[in-house]
Formats: sequence, structure tokens, C-alpha cells
Amino acid sequence: MCGIIAYKGFRDGVNIVLEGLKLLEYRGYDSWGIAAKNEDIHVFKEVGKIGEIKKVNLLRSNICMGHTRWSTTGAVTKENSHPHLSCDNKIAVIHNGIIENYEELKKQLKNHNFASETDTEVIPHLIEENINLGFFEAVKKAANLIEGRSAFIAINKDNDEMIAVRTGAPLILGIGNNEYFIASDVPAFLDYTKDVNYLDDNEMVVIKDHPNFFNFRTGEEIKKRLITISWDKEQSKKGDYKHYLIKEIMEQKETINKAINQDEQEIQKIADEINNAFGTFFVGCGTSGKVCHAGEYLFSKIAKKHVNFVIASEFSNYHHFLTDETLMIVVTQSGETADVIEAIEAAKKENVKIISLVNVQGSTISLKSDYSLLVKAGPEKAVASTKTATSQLALLLLLAYASIGKLKEGKRLLIETSSMINDMLNLRYEEHIKRLAELIHKKEHAYIIGKSSNYPMALESAIKIQEVSYMHAEGFAAGELKHGPIALIEKNTPCIALVANDETKKDVLVNAQELKTRGAYIIGVAPEYNKIFDYWIKVPDAGDASPIVNIIPIQILSYHLALLRGHDPDYPRNLAKGVTVK
Ligand code: G6P
Repeated sequence: MCGIIAYKGFRDGVNIVLEGLKLLEYRGYDSWGIAAKNEDIHVFKEVGKIGEIKKVNLLRSNICMGHTRWSTTGAVTKENSHPHLSCDNKIAVIHNGIIENYEELKKQLKNHNFASETDTEVIPHLIEENINLGFFEAVKKAANLIEGRSAFIAINKDNDEMIAVRTGAPLILGIGNNEYFIASDVPAFLDYTKDVNYLDDNEMVVIKDHPNFFNFRTGEEIKKRLITISWDKEQSKKGDYKHYLIKEIMEQKETINKAINQDEQEIQKIADEINNAFGTFFVGCGTSGKVCHAGEYLFSKIAKKHVNFVIASEFSNYHHFLTDETLMIVVTQSGETADVIEAIEAAKKENVKIISLVNVQGSTISLKSDYSLLVKAGPEKAVASTKTATSQLALLLLLAYASIGKLKEGKRLLIETSSMINDMLNLRYEEHIKRLAELIHKKEHAYIIGKSSNYPMALESAIKIQEVSYMHAEGFAAGELKHGPIALIEKNTPCIALVANDETKKDVLVNAQELKTRGAYIIGVAPEYNKIFDYWIKVPDAGDASPIVNIIPIQILSYHLALLRGHDPDYPRNLAKGVTVK
């Protein structure tokens, strides 16, 4: 996934684009670049993160665009970073996504000189090839020729038009006073406007003096609805925090309450859909996938109802079981994850109803769903998902309660949990976890165990530790360790036991004791102390909401492990916040 932003207006776009790119950096941070149009098109590119760069060596420009890259086709080099240019340097393009047929197109552009290994570069050359039709027609033609999910923006030295095209990756037009912004995500321009138009697939927008929208397949002009964004611009900034990750972890003091502040009738409607469906699938990837997995347990425990959890990339294996009575509940932070989109498309072929829990308003998945519920966690910038995950968990728990007619009871539990999290997340608590990080940060391995809804949280704990600290961590169902992985335990191997104060507690403690006997250093995340624990992290006794409170200390631990091991917790290597490629 990459981030793109463009500006057309009366101010100097270079700075606006540079600052916008910093806010989009979570989408990719291998390399970046900016193109500014004055007399000519001037390009500035760099390998690495944008970081604290305050100024780039480009002249003032009212038509400007930039790109931050998460490489897919072509290595991380200056040549491969965007913007890409036509042979005559008159057309510049930035692009997010994949062009599946680029090799074929490249062959057809034999007389063009390619300067990079990227798929993107076919776009400026395709436009150049057809420029005799006019810029608009040439871009339209290029848009029709490329295959795969993507979005691109093109500018042309010879006129003042800026054209943006969406074929499956997000693109939002921000509308200011005589100025326009186009970006992959709204925080990139929230300082300037909250009024937006979302582009849909197969749409393009041409900005000359005003924006005009077209379906580039049919050529037909389109009227768009103006939407005002609810996110606050300060929400998407670090504020006094050193990193987004710790800021977003701390925001969990409020986010659970926000997540469950929904129209009760809507929640009940979704719960009824689950009750009436002939088979419900919870589908997601990564952290959202672990939330779905926990949701399966929550429904079993609270509603005595079986729902199927499936990782989105594995969903195609289940197509035999889909009918028009099946329900798919999709859980996603970004609403753009390619594996999830593909699962939705497979389900739609069988007329499955799609309901999504999405954090990003107007995202592809929310548009593709029959019904979409906003998770309301606010902008999440750190690559590792934290506050969105706990908000998603809260919503699944609420749905489980609603499905047995106990919506109010579920809500009460979550409001109480939210206030307990508020009390828990203080500086002393963070210090206590930081001390643990200091004790274990030089270890090579860590293992995490949990049972029932805390088993997926053990898996999620491992993801958190791996992705930001690069320590090898693995999560297990507590009872499974003795069937093999226990052979890995050596003296002082850190093992975290996620304990809930319920019927699973005894088993998890027994399993933790088995590890201790083999020399493990036991870290108990539990409401009550137990003598097995070498280090105890107290969590509130939140009943069925235990997976929500138990994952939070592990998020804090991962953050401090990353710092102690010398890594940037916001931008882990090789990763991107949303994965829009398969
Ligand atoms: C990427 C991110 C994860 C995220 C996953 C699913 O792998 O690094 O943090 O959980 O995508 O993303 P989604 O936006 O669908 O929740």
C-alpha cells in the first residue's frame, strides 16, 4: 500500500504535500517523492522515511503531488520511487496499487524509454502515447487499459488540469475554498477541509477550475454527494506523545465508549441478522482477524451460538457452504485490505449478505457492504493496530449480548470496562510494564498462552510483540503447549499467561505452572495475583470483556520492547498499515 496526495489551489502546494505525506507515511515508508508544476514539472525523490524533513528543494507550485511508497513491483530505489514521468517529462503520475497487466502494456510501449522497474511507469507512458487525443482522453484511455486495483493522479506540463482515477484503491477529494486536495486518506488534508467527495471504482475526477466527475468506462458525467468528515484534525496528530503507537494505546481510555455509542436499533438489527442467518462467517486479516477469532468465542460463550471465524485469505475454501441465507461479518480497520475485498467478492457471487465493521469512513469495504457500521476509534496511524482492535472487540461483544436480547446488559458491561481501562491507563501502570520490558528485552523468544476468548488474544499478543519489537513471539492455546511447543522452554524463557477470572482460570494457571516447572519466567496478566507469577500485571476483572483488558498491557509491553530494542514502534520494517495487495 502507498500513500498519495495532490494539491491544486492558490497556495504553495509543495509544503502542503510534504506535510500531507508525513500524515500518510503509515501507508508505506520505503521511499517518497514530490512533483511540482511551474514552467516545467520538477521532481524530488528520496529513499527512506520522510521523518522530520522540513523543506524540499522545489520551487513554489500551485499544482503539486506526492507519494510515499510501500514497494510491490521493483526494489526500493530512487528510480523506482514515484512520481514517474513520461519520456518527454511532461506528464507525471503517482500511483497506489497494482497494475496486473503492466508487462503486457510495457511491450506495447516499445518506443518508450522506461526509467524504473515499476508497474506504475506504464501510466505516464500510456498517457503520452495518446496525448494527441487531449490530456483528459489520454488519461481516460490509460485508466481503461490498466488492470488491477489501484488509484493514480496525473498532471501535465501543458495544461493546468489535475486528473485522478480510482480503480479499486481509495481516493478522496477534499474541497476547500478555491482549492482542492486529493489523497488516499482524509487526515492528509484535514488541516484545510473536512468537506469531501469519495471516488468510487471506475470513477475519475478532473480538476480544472472546479472538479468534474466521470465514469471512465462509460464516459458518463457523475454528480457526487458532499460528505463532512467527523474526524478531528488533532486526532490524527501525535500531540505530546513521542509515537502514534503509545498515543493510540492511551486513547483506549475513551475509544471503547465511543465504539459502543451506536444507534441501538442498528445494533439490534445486525444481531437479528446473525440470529436469522443460516451460517455466519466472521472474516478479517491480521489483528482484525484475531478479533474475529475472539468473536467466535464470545458468541459461543455469551449467546451459545456458533459462528465461523475465517481468515480472509483462506475464505475461498469455504465457498461450498455459502448460500443466499449466509451472512458475512467483515472486520477491518482500513476497509481496504485486498484479501478481505477478495473474500467479499467471493461471497457476493453466492448472494451472501455482507455487514462490515469498519474504522475508516467511506472506505472500499464500507462501500461494498450491504450495511456498514463505523467502529469510531478515530484515525489510527501506527501500523500496529491497538485502539481499533479493542473497539472492534467491544462491538462484537455487544452484538453477542444483543443477539440474546441483552443489549443493555452488554452495554453496561462495556461502559464499566471502559471506565476500568481509564483508571488502569496511568503513568504508574506504564512504568510497571516498562520495567518488565527492561527485564526481558534481550531475550530471543517469548510465548503467550490463553484460553477461550483469550486464546486469540495470545495470538494477537504475539503479533504485537513481533511486529514492533522483532522479538520472536508465539501465542498458543494454553492447553496446547504440552503437546509439543513446551520443548522450546528453557530457563527464564518469558511466558505470558493471559488469565480471565472465569471457568478458564484454573486451566490456564495449571498450564502456566507446567511452563514454570520447565524453567519459564511467568508473566501473569490477570485480575488477581497468583504465586506462580514471577511478574504480575494486574488487569481489571472485566468478565466477558476480559480479552479487551488483557490485550492492553501487551500493547504497552510491545511498545517498550520496540524502544529498548532500538526500533521505531510506529513504522515497523516490511509492513504497512493496510495491505491492498494479495
Ligand atoms: C496489516 C496491518 C495489520 C492489520 C491487517 C488487517 O497487516 O499491518 O495491523 O491488522 O493489515 O488490516 P485491516 O485494515 O483490514 O484491519
